[in-house]
Amino acid sequence: MTILRDSNTSVTTFANVTEKVGDYLICAALDILPTENISVVSPTGVEYQGVREAQEVCAVSILRAGASLENAMRRGYTGRLSFGKILIQRDESTSLPTLYYSKFPTDVESKIVIILEPMLATGGSACQAIETIKAKGVPEENIIFVNILASHYGIKKLFERFPSIHLVTAAVDEHLTPSCHISPGLGDFGDRFYGTS
Ligand code: URA
Repeated sequence: MTILRDSNTSVTTFANVTEKVGDYLICAALDILPTENISVVSPTGVEYQGVREAQEVCAVSILRAGASLENAMRRGYTGRLSFGKILIQRDESTSLPTLYYSKFPTDVESKIVIILEPMLATGGSACQAIETIKAKGVPEENIIFVNILASHYGIKKLFERFPSIHLVTAAVDEHLTPSCHISPGLGDFGDRFYGTS
């Protein structure tokens, strides 16, 4: 997190560390997937009572920053994986989010949805994304929000509105700036990941 927060970190290092943090986050998210019991027979011929995921997973990136966590998802999840996309942009003057585009697998309502969004600031985009996914028939408790840096304000807002979702994050910051950036934060995640600042 220190490397990500450091304004001197290069674009390449920022991307590499995002992959690394992403691996930890996805690992923690996969740990809370519902499982069902199965029995397998080991090479010694002994039956072993084990578990496997009970539901398939759909990872939904909130563009464009969320796409930075897609490779970690591919590395971490060995089951049948599908991806969805949501494009929400916030108006820089009002900070209000608008939904521009969304695409999901047709049977998304039967899956566990892992939302990929590195930054949870005001929670506006996150709430809109969850609302969009719920409108497709996905129960709230089947949604896991995977995030690198959250603000206290954003977490409070998310859970006031959607008390049954799950949140996996790497760090929580106290403050939001007047322009709704997380503070101390790490700047504009998309700009730093894609080198567009
Ligand atoms: N999105 C970002 O990229 N950074 C912030 O601080 C808040 C939202």
